[in-house]
Amino acid sequence: MALTGEGLRARCARELDRSPRGFLRSAWLHEAFLAVPREHFVPDRVWWPAPGPDGRYALLDRAERPRAWLKAVYLPGAALITQIDDGAVAPTGPATGRFTSSISSPGVVVELLRHLAPEPGDKVLEIGTGTGYTTALLAHRVGAARVVTVEIDPRLATRAEGRLRALGRAVRVVRGDGEPGHAPGAPYDRIVATASVRRVPPAWLAQLAPGGTLVAPLDTPYGHDLLVRLTGDGRGAATGRAVAPVEFMRLRGQRAPRPYGSLGWPPEAEAADWETLRVSVDGDGQRVRVGD
Ligand SMILES: C[S@@+](CC[C@H](N)C(=O)[O-])C[C@H]1O[C@@H](n2cnc3c(N)ncnc32)[C@H](O)[C@@H]1O
Repeated sequence: MALTGEGLRARCARELDRSPRGFLRSAWLHEAFLAVPREHFVPDRVWWPAPGPDGRYALLDRAERPRAWLKAVYLPGAALITQIDDGAVAPTGPATGRFTSSISSPGVVVELLRHLAPEPGDKVLEIGTGTGYTTALLAHRVGAARVVTVEIDPRLATRAEGRLRALGRAVRVVRGDGEPGHAPGAPYDRIVATASVRRVPPAWLAQLAPGGTLVAPLDTPYGHDLLVRLTGDGRGAATGRAVAPVEFMRLRGQRAPRPYGSLGWPPEAEAADWETLRVSVDGDGQRVRVGD
C-alpha cells in the first residue's frame, strides 16, 4: 500500500475500531475521523514525546523524513509535541523543556470526543485549540458555526484558525485565557477542555446549558490525569464521574501545584480505584467522593 495520508488514516481508524478505548459504537466519530486529514493540522516540525538516550526530545522534520513524519501523525497512541516552554524553544533540533502544546494522539482525541458525545447542531466550547485538529472534528459533527475555541497562545491560535479556514471550517477562534470560558457564546451544550485542570473552573459550569456535558482532564493524586464527564444543571453546578485515565498539559493558570485536600480530594481517594470516583462542583467548590 502506498504511504498516503488517506491510507494511513484508514489503517489508524481500523486500529481504533479494535481498541477498547477507540470508537466503540460511535459511528459519527469514525466517519469524522476519516473525513478530517490529521496531517493538515500537524506542523512540519514536531518533537517526539519520549526522550532519547541523551534525555532530549528528537525533532521530526517533514522535509527531511516525510514518511517517518506521516507515519508518526497516524500512530494511534502518539501525541506529537508542537511547543516547548511556551514557544521559547525553536523547532530546529532535539530539545528539552516543558511541553506546552501538542496535537493529542488519535486515541486520546477519540476518547475525549466519544465521552463528549456532541449532537448535530449542539453549541460547543473548546478550551485549548492547539493545532485545531480536535476543533475540526467537532466542527464536522456540529457545524463550524456552532463551535467556539479558545487558545491562550496567539501564534498557535492564528495558525489553527488558518488551518481550519483552509479546510472550509471557519470556526471562531478566540485568543486568550480560556479559564473564564467565553461568556458571549454561552450557554453551551458541550464544553471540552484539552488542557488539564486541578480545579474545574466555575465559569465553565456557569456557561453550561441545563443537562449539558463538560469533559475535562482533571489532575489527580495518582500521577496521571483522569478524564471527568460532568452533567450541568444550568445554574453553575455539575456532577459526574471519572471515565478514563489520560495525560494532558496543564491549563496555564493552574500549573502551580496545590494540596489535594484544598481541591476537594478526600484522603481515602488516594487508595481508591479511580473508576469509583464521583465528582461534583458547585458554588462551594469541587468535591471528589469515593462511590460504590
Ligand atoms: C494538548 S494541547 C491541545 C491539543 C489540541 N486539542 C489539538 O488537537 O491540537 C493544549 C492547549 O491548551 C492551550 N492552553 C493552555 N492553557 C490555556 C488557557 N488557559 N486557555 C486557553 N488555552 C490554553 C495550550 O496553549 C495548548 O495549545
